[in-house]
Amino acid sequence: MTRHDEQFVRYLRAKESVDDRALHRPTLAHLIDSLEARAESRPDEPLRVVSVGSGTGAMCRRLLSWGVFDTHDEIKYIMVDRKQGMADQAAAAFAEWSHGAGWTAEPTADGFRIERHGRSVSLTYVTSDLFDAMTVLPQAIDLVIAHAVLDILPLRRAVKALLSRLTDGGLLYAPVTFDGRTSFRPAHEADTEIIDAYHDTMRDDERSGPDTGSDLFSVLPALGAPVVAAGGADWVVHPPHEDDERIFLDRILGFVEESLTDADRVADEPLDDWLKARHEQLASDELSYIAHNIDVLAQRE
Ligand SMILES: C[S@@+](CC[C@H](N)C(=O)[O-])C[C@H]1O[C@@H](n2cnc3c(N)ncnc32)[C@H](O)[C@@H]1O
Repeated sequence: MTRHDEQFVRYLRAKESVDDRALHRPTLAHLIDSLEARAESRPDEPLRVVSVGSGTGAMCRRLLSWGVFDTHDEIKYIMVDRKQGMADQAAAAFAEWSHGAGWTAEPTADGFRIERHGRSVSLTYVTSDLFDAMTVLPQAIDLVIAHAVLDILPLRRAVKALLSRLTDGGLLYAPVTFDGRTSFRPAHEADTEIIDAYHDTMRDDERSGPDTGSDLFSVLPALGAPVVAAGGADWVVHPPHEDDERIFLDRILGFVEESLTDADRVADEPLDDWLKARHEQLASDELSYIAHNIDVLAQRE
């Protein structure tokens, strides 16, 4: 992994507590109810889950910790991420987590098998572009999870690929999908220019754009998967900051800087002034940040 990748991994780990607070609980409750119904209708079959753009596997660890899969004794969970080295990061995070949570863990050829109180989870890591991975998986997936990733993918193509592997009645859970609003406080005179330009960098042929969360409400039903539950999952980070929040905010400022520098959309001076002010506010524990995200649960017809 490059230094930049390591920085990204630190950001993903720091983001876990921000996401923990943000996730829309009624949507999660609907997911739990749907999985319970699935367990009752097919009690002898393992639950098959695929997580795309899974990063360090935070969502899998979280859903297991929060008891979301508790109605199933056997779970087969595949994590797909295209970044080389991410599988090792996920494995390290799992080893630490499973030990602390009282699961016995056994490494397998491409992942882990963990067991606790008669329940087992086989975790498989796949390093691949999700579009390639989707072509080789059987159409037997009960739940696809796309956590904080649809907004960086071509939306219709991605949703089509993900739905194509679901069983009839299978679920697509897309938590923390960005939806077009970013704010920093205290206010700065360059905010509108910087933030509009930052959102504009999200518009290209390879990315869904800044309004992906809202767009899901038309794309999913059009592709045969009506939305069954949804709600806001905003990131709200304000002082005083925990250590993780400082790492998280520092990287968010890094994303703004890198995307605007690459895109050459804002003159150097206002961008430099804005970044300097934001980093100073971060150092003096004054910076607040809000990003509007949406959690969506859809069910294939
Ligand atoms: C913003 S991160 C989110 C990671 C994780 N879901 C989380 O929220 O902690 C997006 C992840 O998607 C992965 N990714 C982006 N495009 C992908 C693609 N086409 N196929 C597979 N993984 C992809 C990136 O490598 C990155 O790890």
